[in-house]
Amino acid sequence: MSVLQESISLKPYNTFGILVNARYFAEIVNEGDLVQLLKSRLIQEQKLLVLGGGSNILFTKDFNGLVIKVAIQGIKSIEDGDNVIVTSGAGVVWNDLVQYCVQRGFGGIENLSLIPGTVGASPIQNIGAYGVELKDVFESCVAYEIATGRAKVFNYKDCRFGYRDSIFKNELKGRYIITSVSLKLSKSPDLNIQYGAIKEELANRNIASPTISDVSAVVSYIRVSKLPDPSTIGNAGSFFKNPVIGQDEFAPILKQFPGIVHYPAPNGRVKLAAGWLIEQCGFKGIVSGETGTWKNQALVLVNHGHATGQEVYSFSEQIVVAVDAKFHVGLEREVNIL
Ligand code: FAD
Ligand code: EPU
Repeated sequence: MSVLQESISLKPYNTFGILVNARYFAEIVNEGDLVQLLKSRLIQEQKLLVLGGGSNILFTKDFNGLVIKVAIQGIKSIEDGDNVIVTSGAGVVWNDLVQYCVQRGFGGIENLSLIPGTVGASPIQNIGAYGVELKDVFESCVAYEIATGRAKVFNYKDCRFGYRDSIFKNELKGRYIITSVSLKLSKSPDLNIQYGAIKEELANRNIASPTISDVSAVVSYIRVSKLPDPSTIGNAGSFFKNPVIGQDEFAPILKQFPGIVHYPAPNGRVKLAAGWLIEQCGFKGIVSGETGTWKNQALVLVNHGHATGQEVYSFSEQIVVAVDAKFHVGLEREVNIL
């Protein structure tokens, strides 16, 4: 049975390093614990927050309810010819799962190396990096409905994945707790090395025929050079999504700003690089009190040590206003604000 703690600091549980407290806190290490907890009166009475690694959350105030930290471990794999189904507990650190697969030659998630957080959170926003998204390898996940305590299997279609989006951020927001995720990987994968920075770094290393392990190493190297390490400077990765707009909206912006960084998106739409938009507004690497943007990546907001969540949020609002004023483009926060 999970141990219930009261009045605990959430600072070690969020990568922004924001100092807030939770009224109640319970860590669950197996499904039995979770089923028990879901039957308890506390669940009916308290506001709930399901927490993985806290790497996509900004706390703006104390959490006056019950935080359920999902810490279910364990990875297993079933091989069938070239295909492998890998099933992981939701509490496994995502990059540990990636390394488990890379070491065994199971391809498909090497481009997602070094993304912080847990496996259980990976379907929530359909994590993505360097040309690959979780949806590309997702087989299914098991999730428990909070209201009934019943387990349900969600297949690919059920999850309605989109760019940094899934059913768990929409219709089912706050209703299910994911306990395991299964991925469909391959022992002879088509490696995805189209991303400019990957090609460049492979060339620098004189690697003409990369292995899964080479791709993982190169992606990790690129990430470390661009993104701040939360163990030394608090952050939650990209604070905003890259805006996806229609051609009609895009045409006048392109005319005025011919250098705008953009990519094709599904259905003829256009994805803009939010980091570029923010940099053009003069925000790259600026320090504002205890917060600011990262010197190598304007899309990442940071905590210089003692920022409050309110301070970070207000600063993000200044960015939204500036980008809207200059480009008439609305930025949507990627980070979950609490
Ligand atoms: P948390 O922050 O704990 O939770 C995130 C959301 O998921 C919350 O709404 C929470 O309630 C919910 N949740 C968590 N676990 C469960 C569960 N088991 N069941 C149900 N709901 C749950 N993301 C990318 O997509 N690509 C990147 O390249 C990337 N780079 C990053 C770089 C840095 C330096 C940092 C700090 C973050 C980055 N992120 C990136 C964001 C983050 O790593 C991902 O969103 C990650 O999946 C969050 O995992 P977590 O366990 O920390 O989730
Ligand atoms: N750029 C700038 N200035 C900046 C930052 C970026 O001009 O300060 C321009 C550059 O031209 C660069 C382009 O924007 O070529 C794209 O930048 P980058 O390759 O760093 O990627 P991104 O679009 O900023 C996205 C994801 C990241 C993911 C990377 C790599 C979102 C919101 N972010 O960032 O995910 O790691 O691509 O695939 O989609 C996260 O979600 O937390 C995250 C870090």
